[in-house]
Amino acid sequence: LREHEEFTKVKNIATVELGKYEIETWYFFPFPPEYNDCVKLFFCEFCLNFMKRKEQLRRHMRKCDLKHPPGDEIYRSGTLSMFEVDGKKNKVYAQNLCYLAKLFLDHKTLYYDVDLFLFYVLCECDDRGCHKVGYFSKEKHSEEAYNLACILTLPSYQRKGYGKFLIAFSYELSKKEGKVGTPERPLSDLGLLSYRGYWTRVLLDILKKHKGNISIKELSDMTAIKAEDILSTLQSLELIQYRKGQHVICADPKVLDRHLKAAGRGGLDVDVSKLIWTPYK
Ligand code: ACO
Ligand code: ZN
Repeated sequence: LREHEEFTKVKNIATVELGKYEIETWYFFPFPPEYNDCVKLFFCEFCLNFMKRKEQLRRHMRKCDLKHPPGDEIYRSGTLSMFEVDGKKNKVYAQNLCYLAKLFLDHKTLYYDVDLFLFYVLCECDDRGCHKVGYFSKEKHSEEAYNLACILTLPSYQRKGYGKFLIAFSYELSKKEGKVGTPERPLSDLGLLSYRGYWTRVLLDILKKHKGNISIKELSDMTAIKAEDILSTLQSLELIQYRKGQHVICADPKVLDRHLKAAGRGGLDVDVSKLIWTPYK
């Protein structure tokens, strides 16, 4: 039995086909046993059903009439669209999305309980349909003020600014809810890098424009970023001093400019005027 267990731990699915991309997977994932002999999986890029053989996918594609994620399109700007998918209403889709994501996420447990989550799926759209770029999930009700549970940019689309777009989007939703938010922990290395980058740029932009003193609480109200995340970001930039038992932001314009230069590209912006959304009740 032990040997069998060890054996099934090898990375089974090495690649997935999704739309026009063939993607190498990053991590092992225990797909149901009937997939044990399978090194490549074929996903329908629209409904996310997956199959063991190309021929099955071909047959599926003739029947599948979905051209975008199920759910509501809540944002459209140019060719970019965001869809909100309710895990309860679209259970199979949501589970398949989690399966796919788990191939690129190491530390996260998979949520079989997709009912409790909303999924925000970002797509690049053309005349053939809406092609998935990435997504994030969000608990419908979070006691810990999490505004994002899992985030993924599909490898074919990484390093183009979509991750920061997804993060920015999660904070725009929090602003509409009138709440501060923070991502669920732990973060992966790439997750932390992306968040640090986002927090740094947002905070530096405000400090650069703002005249006079500003508190962490005010920054938090403006950005929906949780105070702890603001403090740790500003501390890492050495913009915080501790005076008379209080954290004080010391934003020397020269230091800000230096950090802003180092912070690099801003990425794709969320155009809030194109977001049509009401919080989940
Ligand atoms: N090497 C070094 N730095 C990187 C890399 C990399 N491979 N990828 C991203 N970064 C950093 C960079 O600082 C980058 O900014 P820059 O390009 O301006 O230098 C920043 O992260 C964000 O880059 P984006 O292009 O906006 O992000 P991307 O679309 O690549 O998505 C993400 C980032 C979502 C973390 C992606 O790497 C991913 O899906 N990884 C696998 C899944 C994962 O780890 N998710 C986070 C788990 S934590 C959680 O879910 C709460
Ligand atoms: Zn399909």
